[in-house]
Amino acid sequence: MLKDKKIVLGVSGGIAAYKAAALTSKLVQAGAKVKVILTESATQFVTPLTFQALSREPVYTNTFVEPDPNKIAHIELADWADAMVIAPATANIIGKLANGLADDMLSTTLLATKAPIFVAPAMNVNMYEHQAVQRNMQQLVEDGVEIIDANAGYLACGWIGKGRLAEPEEIVTFLDLFFIRKERMNSSLRGKKVVISAGPTQEKIDPVRYFTNHSSGKMGYAIAHAAYLRGAEVTLVSGPTNLMAPVGIKTIHIESAKEMYEAVTSLYDEADIVIKSAAVADYRPAVTYTQKRKKEPGAWAIEMDRTKDILATLGARKQKQILVGFAAETENIEQNALGKLERKHLDLIVANDISQEGAGFKGDTNEVIIYTKDAQVIKVPKAQKSEVADTLLNEIEKYEQRNLPL
Ligand code: PMT
Repeated sequence: MLKDKKIVLGVSGGIAAYKAAALTSKLVQAGAKVKVILTESATQFVTPLTFQALSREPVYTNTFVEPDPNKIAHIELADWADAMVIAPATANIIGKLANGLADDMLSTTLLATKAPIFVAPAMNVNMYEHQAVQRNMQQLVEDGVEIIDANAGYLACGWIGKGRLAEPEEIVTFLDLFFIRKERMNSSLRGKKVVISAGPTQEKIDPVRYFTNHSSGKMGYAIAHAAYLRGAEVTLVSGPTNLMAPVGIKTIHIESAKEMYEAVTSLYDEADIVIKSAAVADYRPAVTYTQKRKKEPGAWAIEMDRTKDILATLGARKQKQILVGFAAETENIEQNALGKLERKHLDLIVANDISQEGAGFKGDTNEVIIYTKDAQVIKVPKAQKSEVADTLLNEIEKYEQRNLPL
């Protein structure tokens, strides 16, 4: 969730300032863009160069240094931020923010921003427990500031008690969860019942042999995870994969196309959205042997029957549901995908050219074109399947908005 999030990290002057370097690095590794403000006291503990190297951005220390005459740096930073984090936050900066004081780069930016503010205190235990500090922190909570509370333990001053800066990993997790919660609040998928199919099917020939395909389930699991993060009530119908059943998502494990048909159709009436990313077998052996078939001289011809087309069945029974199909193609991508969109009465179809490197089966990436019933075409360049999943959900949300019943 931190990918491309714009974080202003304010570092104030305490010994824990050294941990802010690790925090900067972890935020950058998580994909965030980080701009750092050091207070003058912080520069006694750590150098701007450290943070410049870790963030690959200029570091701000002085309100009156304005390198670009077209911009006022603290306003620019305040407007740029998706979130402001103060770590470590000393009693001094907490007191300034609680009382609306602005006399340096960090405190002026804090008052100018509309972004959510996170304060991670770090100080001596007696300072931490002082009624003035506690009063100021209470004021911050009332003002809507999020406190990432200090840990208890050995303090650099030699005391043992509360006042240790939360670990950089804890701060990153706190921010991550904040953005997840925020996205859930805003998503139109929140509370919607979403059924997602993923993975291959296995069509048994006998107890040891089956027909299957190359689907790993990664695409479908990524969609399920992304929908869950948006607050949807997700049911994942999964063919056999090596993936862990995702936490918080009801997962129904099936093997054959027939079992997938039964699971998906039984969930359909209640569903708001169905996304069929599974690679379902179109054919299954006409006969399944109960005993292992022994090899014999000569060839073995296996007669195959058609399986039921689950998506076409859903399309024919469609009421309120948004129905999303996938198309795994090797040629005539657009024509084939649009044919399936129409024949199966879909709202959206996600076409992947599985002959392309980095697209389709097995890998962590995909490259797709999304076609919608209302004639939108969205090209999604090669990206991680988690990103493709997010783009697909964005397009489903937009489609839903465009087609709300009057
Ligand atoms: O699992 P991964 O390794 O991450 O790979 C992802 C993927 C390549 C499997 C995925 O991106 C994808 O393309 N899934 C659809 C594969 C497929 O079966 O495509 P199709 O063109 O054969 O089928 C069209 C649609 O009809 C699909 O939504 C499919 O689920 C559905 N179908 C097909 C046959 C059938 N009997 N019932 C169906 O519902």
